[in-house]
Amino acid sequence: MKFFIDTANFDEIKEAHSWGILSGVTTNPSLVAKEEGISFHDRLREIAELVDGSVSGEVISLDAEGMIKEGLELSKIAPNITVKLPMTPEGLKACKYFSEKGIKTNVTLIFSANQALLAARAGATYVSPFLGRLDDIGQNGVQLVAQIAEIFDIHQIETEIIAASIRHPQHVVEAALAGADIATVPFKVLKQLFHHPLTDKGIEAFLADWEKRSNK
Ligand code: E4P
Repeated sequence: MKFFIDTANFDEIKEAHSWGILSGVTTNPSLVAKEEGISFHDRLREIAELVDGSVSGEVISLDAEGMIKEGLELSKIAPNITVKLPMTPEGLKACKYFSEKGIKTNVTLIFSANQALLAARAGATYVSPFLGRLDDIGQNGVQLVAQIAEIFDIHQIETEIIAASIRHPQHVVEAALAGADIATVPFKVLKQLFHHPLTDKGIEAFLADWEKRSNK
């Protein structure tokens, strides 16, 4: 499973990129709205220049025509821009259009295996099932990822699964075990993935022993 970062904050992206683990970035209108002093297109441009991988920018139109217009503008920003589209009939019309043009798409707001299958058949490059938001309403987000992975495997579907709406480190390991190709992870959770008390304790012990050595 690869890692994308789920943020529009450039400092967070720069830091995670410096760790050498990033394969891409996802943004959404709520994440972009938190960023002040820069336009959406300029932010996508700077992210796409830094990160050598898929950078999702989401459309806000509700009709296919509007989505296509916005998506074409987004795709001109950089060759690694992925057009993020909502899981609706209009979104899938736009998905089909972009897929025929060879422009990458990420169909978002996936909450059922049937939605993922429909998006894949419309030529989606990625589908994004939302784990955390399903857990919030008492359903099992990880189980959905496992179902989609099994269906894509049985039918040899190449669309990649991005486990999204990740809330904690356990989601990450469970998404990997369930067969997600990618997890898009908020910066806070990415940092949590590094930590284990025995790692910290081990470093402390090594340093203490090093200080105590006799052959200084
Ligand atoms: C990513 O593509 C999604 O937009 C994002 O993961 C949603 O996360 P949230 O449910 O925490 O808002």
